[in-house]
Amino acid sequence: MEWGCGGGANAVSIAPFAREFIGVDVSDESLRECGRQVAAHCDTPFLPVRVAVANPETALRDIEGPCDLFLCVYVFELIPSPAYGERILRIAYELLAPGGLALIQIKYDTGSWRTRPRRLSYRFSPGNMTTYPIHAFWQLATRCGFAPEYVELVPRDEVDERYAYFVLVKPPAPR
Ligand SMILES: C[S@@+](CC[C@H](N)C(=O)[O-])C[C@H]1O[C@@H](n2cnc3c(N)ncnc32)[C@H](O)[C@@H]1O
Repeated sequence: MEWGCGGGANAVSIAPFAREFIGVDVSDESLRECGRQVAAHCDTPFLPVRVAVANPETALRDIEGPCDLFLCVYVFELIPSPAYGERILRIAYELLAPGGLALIQIKYDTGSWRTRPRRLSYRFSPGNMTTYPIHAFWQLATRCGFAPEYVELVPRDEVDERYAYFVLVKPPAPR
């Protein structure tokens, strides 16, 4: 599944290898486009799941059964607050099968005031609303039950700066 799937830029590469592809988004229009793109690239069934920003937990009701992969990229910097990100992590943990993998990208806070979360000020720089110090996101993931395995940093690329890509594992069930 992909949280914040948008119009399917990632879905077209991943869905061909999946039994089912679940796209979650706050925008119906994006979900429709994602469905069109998946259908144009493969026969994998696509399940669109719309969530309201205020209540992302409805995804737990609308998605049946455990998922193998939870992908979420270029979304966490847009969400309202760091605390909201914890809600998404807890949803990811519940939806994943034991041993399942979450690949989540955030923008990181370096400690300078410029890179701190903006909290409610969407008007200026919506792409920097929510940031976390790298160690804080690692610890948050641990508190939500994940075993963080890896983080890759991209301090700057041609588009933007301060990307961190985390690989988190939901520990396998004890035997
Ligand atoms: C920058 S796009 C990234 C789309 C896709 N992940 C990609 O990499 O191409 C951000 C997407 O996140 C969605 N989004 C924003 N806030 C969200 C939220 N709270 N829950 C789920 N999706 C959200 C937006 O509607 C949009 O489709």
